[in-house]
Amino acid sequence: MAAFFLPFYTIFACYFSIHKMKHIIISGPPGSGKGTQAVKLAEHYGLVHISTGDVLRDAIMRKTTLGVIAQQRIDKGNFVPDDIALSIIQEFIDDEHPGSNGFIFDGFPRTLNQAYIFDDMLLQRGQQLSAFILLYVLNEITIDRMQKRALKLGRPDDAHIDIINHRIKIYHEVTEPIVAYYENKGLLVKINGEKTEEDVLSTIIEKLDKRLR
Ligand code: AP5
Ligand code: MG
Repeated sequence: MAAFFLPFYTIFACYFSIHKMKHIIISGPPGSGKGTQAVKLAEHYGLVHISTGDVLRDAIMRKTTLGVIAQQRIDKGNFVPDDIALSIIQEFIDDEHPGSNGFIFDGFPRTLNQAYIFDDMLLQRGQQLSAFILLYVLNEITIDRMQKRALKLGRPDDAHIDIINHRIKIYHEVTEPIVAYYENKGLLVKINGEKTEEDVLSTIIEKLDKRLR
């Protein structure tokens, strides 16, 4: 009898697991407004915001082993290795926020390899992505924003124009290919990030609402 009901139970559990969780990626070049929008979207949709950059900066501040490894790379505008980024995500979703409605992933994935492994992680959990938001902003505008932010927050990777340019170069070379990957999956939501913060947010919500129904 149990053997008869088990397949139905599995399909039932899988269906609700897939439809309950909402996972959204927000991507775009350095300074495009990912963090600014992710905080507001998390609040609006009742999701948990995870910024791999924030986790790494926190580790650097606390001088943990992860922080020591990360600092050498981040301060020069280079990425941390994929396995570090992936283990941050895994720990955050499984150990720190197991009962959440879903996540806004800010600055992750950042390489095609991270995207492939992330797909497997979600598949193993019977979950899927709802959308991949791309904030597109001209380089001149993001540079101006980062230089202004440097005066307020003092992030070492904003401190010098050469490092800012290096981050932008790596974004175009290494991260941008993931846009086509998610476009092919029908998940791409393209947003002009050059408008005001309020306009960007309302456009994202308008487009996401149609997908999250
Ligand atoms: P991360 O912290 O993700 O940095 P980033 O991608 O360079 O992006 P930023 O945080 O600089 O910008 P943002 O897009 O969040 O914009 P924000 O909202 O702040 O990563 C840092 C580093 O960590 C990486 O370089 C890498 O080394 C490492 N790392 C992180 N994730 C990794 C991963 N998965 N794999 C490997 N390595 C990883 O806005 C910018 C400024 O503009 C702010 O001052 C804001 O107030 C302002 N602003 C925002 N929106 C607007 C608007 N619409 N109009 C005017 N101003 C605006
Ligand atoms: Mg950010």
